[in-house]
Amino acid sequence: MARIELDMAHAYRPNPKQDSDYALLPLKMTFDDGGAYALLGPSGCGKTTLLNIMSGLVTPSQGTVLFDGRDVTQASPQQRNIAQVFQFPVIYDTMTVAENLAFPCATARCPRSRLPNAWARLPRCWK
Ligand SMILES: Nc1ncnc2c1ncn2[C@@H]1O[C@H](COP(=O)(O)OP(=O)(O)OP(=O)(O)O)[C@@H](O)[C@H]1O
Ligand SMILES: [Mg+2]
Repeated sequence: MARIELDMAHAYRPNPKQDSDYALLPLKMTFDDGGAYALLGPSGCGKTTLLNIMSGLVTPSQGTVLFDGRDVTQASPQQRNIAQVFQFPVIYDTMTVAENLAFPCATARCPRSRLPNAWARLPRCWK
């Protein structure tokens, strides 16, 4: 995939003044290429906001997102070549991880060969 570096904060409301105005307080975080990570925290702590910022569905109100050192803060998910599996409705538990990731591409009649090369790099047990 890519090495993802976050150095940002996000407030859904304009002109945040206090900590409680932020969905994500300023944070720096690096996800190494090929790593497996889990985000844990109570409801409302900002997990989905963080994922949406990484995928490009939400633009952080301050700071930057880097993919392999390239500033993609303003780039769309398509420009980032990234896929996201949403919490809801649900993932399909009859499918493997790889099949869940490929499903939107299949329904869009996009050949698997056009999937990001992530498919090839998924562990065999996920396919
Ligand atoms: N579109 C939005 N507009 C305004 N506030 C939002 C929006 N989305 C989320 N929030 C607020 O941002 C904060 C973080 O929400 P977020 O959905 O990222 O948390 P979460 O950790 O994913 O929660 P959950 O475990 O319930 O899915 C919460 O206070 C939430 O109310
Ligand atoms: Mg969530």
